[in-house]
Amino acid sequence: MNATTLSAPDTRPVIAMGELSAYSDAPALTDVLASGARATLSWADGAQAHFPLMWLRDNCACVACRHAITRERLYVPLAPITTAPEAKLHDGNLILNWQDGHVSTFDAGWLHQRRPGQEPAPVIPARRPWATDFAPTHVSHADFVGSASGERAWLTALLRDGLVLMDGGPLADEEVSRLAERIGPMRPTNFGARFDVRSKPNPNNAAYTAMGLALHTDLPNWRQPPDIQLLYCLENDAEGGESIFADGFAAADTLRQQDPEAFRILSETPIDFRFQDEEQDITTRAPVLSVDHDDQLIEVRFNNWIRDSLRLPTHAIDAWYAAYRRFWELLHSSQHQLDFALAPGQMIAFDNRRVLHGRRAFDPSTGRRHLQGTYLDLDMIESRLRVLSRPD
Ligand code: OGA
Ligand code: ZN
Ligand code: ZN
Repeated sequence: MNATTLSAPDTRPVIAMGELSAYSDAPALTDVLASGARATLSWADGAQAHFPLMWLRDNCACVACRHAITRERLYVPLAPITTAPEAKLHDGNLILNWQDGHVSTFDAGWLHQRRPGQEPAPVIPARRPWATDFAPTHVSHADFVGSASGERAWLTALLRDGLVLMDGGPLADEEVSRLAERIGPMRPTNFGARFDVRSKPNPNNAAYTAMGLALHTDLPNWRQPPDIQLLYCLENDAEGGESIFADGFAAADTLRQQDPEAFRILSETPIDFRFQDEEQDITTRAPVLSVDHDDQLIEVRFNNWIRDSLRLPTHAIDAWYAAYRRFWELLHSSQHQLDFALAPGQMIAFDNRRVLHGRRAFDPSTGRRHLQGTYLDLDMIESRLRVLSRPD
């Protein structure tokens, strides 16, 4: 076969696989051989793969094996498959006649996407650390609400950079809730599902004063801090009150290079975080930096005013403070810090478990400052991007 034949358009019929994401744009099958516990499949693009028969039986998409409306699996893989089915190709797709008389039909493209050893094509962008010249992506409110491509651009930047700006929104109470609810349910916390950030009498949180807020993550005192924070600016006339942000993962990676011992201490030492007011006392114990099995960062918990007193052996306390100081200095260095004033009608969204945020102090006697905020789960952000990436 020559290259022209390999890239010829594929006109095989598409088999319904109980799947809403795209899979039809893939080559036809050219050969199948079922023997022993495997089926070996070959496609027109030269790909070949070995599928365990049990896997194929488990993934039958007929109405008996997969619910026709919910698309969820009905089949339970308890009986081992001991005899190879009769396997044939029909119009480039696969048909298996199992020994018990059950018939399974598979779309060639669906199998091509899922062939063992194949990574799925990424819809969700990889995280990209901020470079020193990082500048946030801006998406206009009109594009976000008016087009799938605008909303996709916003979601993609948020997942990639951990931060994205929306410009030109209406100065309307609760607009932040309407925008959030396009994506998913607002995540409630002890501050409510939707909160107002302005200086208030009897504040129960530093954000509700006019004080400056050093870089922090919200609610590290919860076992599961909120993933994504939205802050919508309605008024910002007071002197001061500029926003600051830093990529916590990038700063932690710098710390790892410059001071591996400080990184080790912050990633291996659980400390206590705690919030208390008249109604609540919410506390959890976790390290400032969490890493996965490959030593990659998965979470930063950093909030100096709800850090509880250190409960560590005496000999470990001074070393912990030294490590904390090093990380604080890196976060607040100009190399890692982003600094700008939010304009009324702008909304900032950021990954609260990666990107730290803060603000400069403001003077409430010089004007008003009012933000409305809420939180969303990362699962909803990723889900929305997958949905908006489906074929029409
Ligand atoms: C907050 C917060 C920042 C600001 O509400 O958690 O950090 O700009 N607010 O007021
Ligand atoms: Zn079936
Ligand atoms: Zn905050």
